[in-house]
Amino acid sequence: MAMSDPYDIVVLGSLNQDLVARVPRIPEPGETVLATGHSTFAGGKGANQATAAARLGARVGMVGRVGDDDFGRRLIAGLATDGIDTQFVTVDPTVGSGLALINVEESGENAITVSPGANATVGVDDVAAAAEMIAAASILLIQLEVPVAALAAAITAARGTVILNPAPAAALPSELLAGVDILIPNESELALLSALPVTDNTEVVAAAGSLPVDDVVVTMGAGGAMVVKRSGATHVAAPTVTAVDTTGAGDAFCGALAAELARGAYVEAAVRFAVRAAAVAVTRHGAQAAMPTRDEVS
Ligand code: RIB
Repeated sequence: MAMSDPYDIVVLGSLNQDLVARVPRIPEPGETVLATGHSTFAGGKGANQATAAARLGARVGMVGRVGDDDFGRRLIAGLATDGIDTQFVTVDPTVGSGLALINVEESGENAITVSPGANATVGVDDVAAAAEMIAAASILLIQLEVPVAALAAAITAARGTVILNPAPAAALPSELLAGVDILIPNESELALLSALPVTDNTEVVAAAGSLPVDDVVVTMGAGGAMVVKRSGATHVAAPTVTAVDTTGAGDAFCGALAAELARGAYVEAAVRFAVRAAAVAVTRHGAQAAMPTRDEVS
């Protein structure tokens, strides 16, 4: 890649094949529930966020790994269809592609089990190979479905804004958070990272303000989002929609937020756009399949 041709956003993250069962309710431990149907969708938090940003007009490069299997080949091809540069998505012949086993209730609520597969073998060598692309990008967008060592190396390589979506929830070394410009947790991730209760908006603001990141954007599902900066907090409401599948809603939000920032928006304006993009995504089935285009976000 020529240095004169930088990407708006580089995503370092996961690619998963999502195996989705539509169920009347999510099974209890030890219980079997008959699904009303099933589908396969392209997923993985990294690839979902890359797709969301690309569909909204951002120029996106992706760094990650798949296995040497049909799932992996389809996942890469899907990203390329959305115009995403996949030259640094490598094929690991030693392990299968990441898989996500997802139950989706009629209410749109879901329960997800991820088997990381090749995502777990993403390493500092992958980041080193893509270091020039990462350094040149306006935004580095990362999540927690690839090893922390690779994320730390990417933060070191980045010269632009670093956005971390700390999902799935995990404790993080404070040195990693220190390199993050914008953190986008949901409420349970915020509770884990801050070790504080988040049962109402006052507690959300206090917990977000306790973290060593200047800008924290807390996603709250149908409750919208809370932007917490050193200068104060702003709540952004979400439009009311009928959700059919919330899988990837947070990814739609993160990809849309990054895409808007890359267009020069302020964080609050980008959040207002991102809640609308996520609201569209939950009205459709699948993760990447549900990501809206710019024309579809009112
Ligand atoms: O955030 C939703 C994603 O989580 C799914 O696409 C699944 O692959 C898991 O990574």
